[in-house]
Amino acid sequence: MSQENPIEKRLKDKYKQTPKWAEDFPIDQKQDSNVSRRDFVRYLGLVSFGFFAGTAGVWLSSLFKITSRSFKPMKIIDKEDLNVGESYVFEVPGYKEPAILVRLNQDEFVAFGQKCTHLQCPVIWKKDEKILFCPCHKGAFNGTTGDVLYGPPERALPKLKIEVLSDGVYVTGMERGELA
Ligand code: FES
Repeated sequence: MSQENPIEKRLKDKYKQTPKWAEDFPIDQKQDSNVSRRDFVRYLGLVSFGFFAGTAGVWLSSLFKITSRSFKPMKIIDKEDLNVGESYVFEVPGYKEPAILVRLNQDEFVAFGQKCTHLQCPVIWKKDEKILFCPCHKGAFNGTTGDVLYGPPERALPKLKIEVLSDGVYVTGMERGELA
């Protein structure tokens, strides 16, 4: 008669008993493993819908970012305090990013967010070239439209809506993009 190995015997005895965790969290193994094909397809559908909704949300938010919007008009400066060809940096309440106003000619003013769209350095107005220049990596934006002219930036500067009234120049909203 062969004698049972004592280690094997101890293991067998040990696993005869129900472990403590199994008593605390009893699981019906037969039912647990039954995920029907219909349930699986339903979960798959839900997950796909989740991804779709997320993507649509991101797309919609980017759409709203490029749509113009208005806010309470705020006077920036008296017309006569800014000479033709000069610029003036100002702040819009509620935003950290400063903006830059440029007087292009007697009656035309434009304003843009002052942070370069590459790595956020402040752009400066270069009167002779009529560009907004970023000294950090030599990027440049069109002084009239804010579009990229050259350098690393890939997006135009955020553009503000400007109104020129008899008593001054006002900012009235965002024409494109958003200030930080
Ligand atoms: S931060 Fe303006 S070009 Fe890089």
